[in-house]
Amino acid sequence: MYHLSLQGAATLSDIYIGAGVFEQAAKRVAEKFKPTRIHVVTDSNVAPLYLDRLCAEFSLNITTTVLPAGEQYKTLDTVAGIYADLSAAGLTRSDLVIALGGGVVGDITGFAAATYLRGISLCQIPTTLLAQVDSSVGGKTGVDLPQGKNLVGAFYQPELVLIDTDILSTLPRRIFCDGMAEVIKYGCISNPAILELTAQPDFRGNLEQIVYECVRIKRDVVQQDERDTGLRMILNFGHTIGHAAEKAGHFTELSHGQAVAIGMVQAAKLGAALGEADLSGQIASLCQAHDLPTELPYPAEDIYAALLRDKKRTADAINFILVHPLGKAVIHKIPLEQLHQLLAAQ
Ligand SMILES: NC(=O)c1ccc[n+]([C@@H]2O[C@H](COP(=O)([O-])OP(=O)(O)OC[C@H]3O[C@@H](n4cnc5c(N)ncnc54)[C@H](O)[C@@H]3O)[C@@H](O)[C@H]2O)c1
Repeated sequence: MYHLSLQGAATLSDIYIGAGVFEQAAKRVAEKFKPTRIHVVTDSNVAPLYLDRLCAEFSLNITTTVLPAGEQYKTLDTVAGIYADLSAAGLTRSDLVIALGGGVVGDITGFAAATYLRGISLCQIPTTLLAQVDSSVGGKTGVDLPQGKNLVGAFYQPELVLIDTDILSTLPRRIFCDGMAEVIKYGCISNPAILELTAQPDFRGNLEQIVYECVRIKRDVVQQDERDTGLRMILNFGHTIGHAAEKAGHFTELSHGQAVAIGMVQAAKLGAALGEADLSGQIASLCQAHDLPTELPYPAEDIYAALLRDKKRTADAINFILVHPLGKAVIHKIPLEQLHQLLAAQ
């Protein structure tokens, strides 16, 4: 088992990673908090698998909210439902909310915890690979609006994150592979040893170490740039073209992980066109080994149009994360006109 601490401006997060961490939930909670009530939020897929098991760990009476599964429920209405349940259960600021689920449950519950009574203690128990290596750590919480994804939110660090890699055994393969895109991203931007581990046929045997190495990178980056004003941008490697591809596919044709895989390979091609060593083949092979696509399924013009609406765009350029050499990320400002030409030439 691994332990990491993330010292944020206001909160110290303790992060435990390993097979069997789930069974230690009551012990870890008792070390950090003195709640009289605990409320668990989960979703309709995770609840039948893990909710009773979690509740059985505690001697306290636990109240629960089971959300319908899916990104379409990541809304303010869902948050209002959680507030109602927290209020009905009589939670006070000395009590604890636990998010048990993937990134959707984690983001919604984190936002509810950040805002209910102006902040109530939060523990994240992530159950997807993406949530384990990415969304449960770092304190970004929020929901979608009809106008766009993640438009409302708060930075709110969980004080405790319990990452049990055994929980991933029930994850459908496609969702597991989505998370592998983020794992490969960490290897590309910071630690090529992760790529060597994921390239092995029996890599699942090393999952605990792989997740730990990824979370360690996220912890280090967030600790230096908690509010996402600079360095944290490197975590977006593959996400700029990835988001554009998700938009071009109306958020239904590609999953997030698939889009990130395509985005990483396309970013590597941009790097090569700008004169760096061409890493696109190497990154593509790593993604393909986990059933992730690597070719843009949309015309370059559609991607460019979507990129023009990117948050990282300034008046005449877009900040791109490029990797060179493998394991080192750099922020590179590409003028819009040059980007247009490079995309058309790919
Ligand atoms: N806060 C952040 O920093 C951050 C970072 C990246 C992504 N996100 C957000 O994360 C969300 C995506 O998260 P996700 O990919 O985990 O999706 P998700 O939460 O929708 O989970 C995917 C599916 O897997 C099911 N599931 C979860 N755990 C399971 C398990 N152990 N066994 C069987 N089924 C299980 C869920 O019910 C769901 O149907 C997006 O909303 C995205 O915006 C947030």
